Amino acid sequence: MEFLDHYQKIVAEAVDKYTFTEKPSELYEPMNYIISHGGKRLRPIMVLMGNELFDGDMEKAIKPALAIEFFHNFTLIHDDIMDEAPIRRNKPTIHTLHGINVGILSGDALLIKAYQFFEDLEPELFKKCIKIFSETGAVLCEGQQNDVNFETQKHVSYDEYINMITSKTGVLSAASFQIGALIAGASEEDAELIYNFGKHIGIAFQIMDDYLDVFGDMEQFGKKHAGDIYENKKTILYLLALEHANEEELSELNYWFSKKTDNVDKVYSVEKIFRRTKVDDKVLRLIQKHNEIGQSYLDKINLPDEKKLPFRELANYLLRRES
Ligand code: IPE
Ligand code: IPE
Ligand code: MG
Ligand code: MG
Ligand code: MG
Repeated sequence: MEFLDHYQKIVAEAVDKYTFTEKPSELYEPMNYIISHGGKRLRPIMVLMGNELFDGDMEKAIKPALAIEFFHNFTLIHDDIMDEAPIRRNKPTIHTLHGINVGILSGDALLIKAYQFFEDLEPELFKKCIKIFSETGAVLCEGQQNDVNFETQKHVSYDEYINMITSKTGVLSAASFQIGALIAGASEEDAELIYNFGKHIGIAFQIMDDYLDVFGDMEQFGKKHAGDIYENKKTILYLLALEHANEEELSELNYWFSKKTDNVDKVYSVEKIFRRTKVDDKVLRLIQKHNEIGQSYLDKINLPDEKKLPFRELANYLLRRES
């Protein structure tokens, strides 16, 4: 994907410029560890794309783009503590290597550094971007708390699930496009349209993440296989399986999701039910649905189609991704 490589290179060069050299190294090395081990860097790319769509100056958008990436990595460090995840991007997670205290603090410090990246914007734009950024952060925390609440909540509805993933994942990709657009001087109306495109792409992205947790290739995905099943996560796979399971399968699902265990039989049994109830096909259709809703917002932006092409390509890439 040519345009993605192009943006990824720009982000990588910018990230390199901000390697931490401060002390104490116990704090800053884990921050460098997570930031420099890459990942797909999708959210800063979304900032740059939102900016370019409205003919903005890339120089002005690059630090806010880094802000979003640093913020994202902060959420990942804390998310891995909350989800007891041992591996991310095929590497041990920070709390696994250095303990929970280092995970908490290096995450906090990344969040603060993220805010500092907005400091160069002129006052009015600064205020606008910080407002979106702060609101996004608060909503993301709500989503994360609901994600954890759902582990022990007996009944989780489809709407509750969609709200939860909108909060934990959808709003950040939405805000990334929106901030990029506003930095370019886009109208509030256009910024809102690209926000909604990002929100639905983000929802589809999280559904795909749930899917890959079970059906993805572990090496490519870079995380522990079926981590969500071990953690009793009420993912879309689980909700759809409940809906389509027979009585015996239902009681099996209830049995396994009433306890946390490292027993591989849990994953074996739950995966078997997921396959028997054909949740994989249903999930892929749902991803397509949110992709289409996202595209409908893109359609409403009054710009030539060729300018929107990278957005359609990005959506297609995200929804066919394997990592
Ligand atoms: C992981 O995000 C967290 C989710 C919202 C699913 P990414 O899959 O974008 O993670 P990296 O940054 O590319 O590793
Ligand atoms: C996390 O969702 C979203 C955030 C980090 C805010 P997940 O818990 O599914 O993300 P992964 O699978 O660990 O990357
Ligand atoms: Mg997680
Ligand atoms: Mg999580
Ligand atoms: Mg996940």
